Amino acid sequence: MRVLAVESSCDETAVAVYDGPRGELLAHRVHSQTEVHAAYGGVVPELAARDHMRRLPLLTRQIMMDAGLGFEALGAVAYTSGPGLAGALMAGAAFAKGVAASRGLPALGVNHLEGHILAPLLGDDPPAFPFLALLVSGGHSQLIEVQGVGRYRLLGESIDDAIGEAFDKSAKLMGLGYPGGAALSQLAKQGDAEAIRFTRPMINRPGLDLSFSGLKTAVVNAVASGASHADVAASFEKTVIDTLVIKLGRALDQTGLDRLVVAGGVAANRPLRARLHAMMIERGGAVHFPEIELCTDNAAMIALAGFLRLQAGERDPAAGFCVRARWPLNALTPPGAVG
Ligand code: KG4
Ligand code: ZN
Repeated sequence: MRVLAVESSCDETAVAVYDGPRGELLAHRVHSQTEVHAAYGGVVPELAARDHMRRLPLLTRQIMMDAGLGFEALGAVAYTSGPGLAGALMAGAAFAKGVAASRGLPALGVNHLEGHILAPLLGDDPPAFPFLALLVSGGHSQLIEVQGVGRYRLLGESIDDAIGEAFDKSAKLMGLGYPGGAALSQLAKQGDAEAIRFTRPMINRPGLDLSFSGLKTAVVNAVASGASHADVAASFEKTVIDTLVIKLGRALDQTGLDRLVVAGGVAANRPLRARLHAMMIERGGAVHFPEIELCTDNAAMIALAGFLRLQAGERDPAAGFCVRARWPLNALTPPGAVG
């Protein structure tokens, strides 16, 4: 079964084709809307939805050419049905359902967070279940015990800002544009990570929840006091990573797991990857990351998650469709259990 997948939950329009039985990603493309939203310093939902509508037809034609396939070679269509911006999700869902209906193909709405967590399965070194997942993106910071596909237990999450959001807000403050997570990390290379001693949030509190709004305020104050932006960036990045190392150590101890998966846009952060790699070697375990380009939003991960459920017989209801702006991972069930 070859699956065409569409991702449109936020500000990337993405399309992919995945050959499920062969486990082969045939093609994937991501069109970033950064330019559309840059002037506003954040994503404007209405503009995001319109741009998805505008881009999807051509992007899909291109992806079929990349894959060297005609539409008759497809077996199903998967699309992100949540969580995300409602209008943006609707644009992708309507397009995907239209393609499916015109070709008589089954369609399935996929959970974006499940896509992120399963993305390392597309790589050369796929993790075995069970594992601990750290999902760190612009909208989510969660620690999840993953027993299998669709078997997720939330262990802890940020009680305020997501980590990507903290990166982006700090970057914006330093004039690094939006979304500035990667730019902040770039700037941090030139700074001294010990220059500013930020308090590591929540490490003295028991449990596995996270909090980053206090750190964000500390960054505001450091910048206002005239500290070097490179030093602020380096100290901020190190504080975030230190905090994650402590919380992840606790979660691994608590669950007895020795495999870690890190996914979501912030998983593209090189210093984070290096520290977690060292940490897992020291613990005698292993860490798995998606390929860098599959950390941020993409449709390859949606194609994979969709395939795993479609092959178990899951399909959208015959009539209508719904998108879910909120759709927590622990609401999911294993493939084939519903649908
Ligand atoms: O998963 P994603 O593409 O979108 C969401 O579902 O949110 O994650 C985007 C987030 C942004 O906050 C972006 O600044 C952050 O990932 N990000 C990074 C890096 N690359 C992307 N944060 C830190 N370091 C990076 N290298
Ligand atoms: Zn995402």
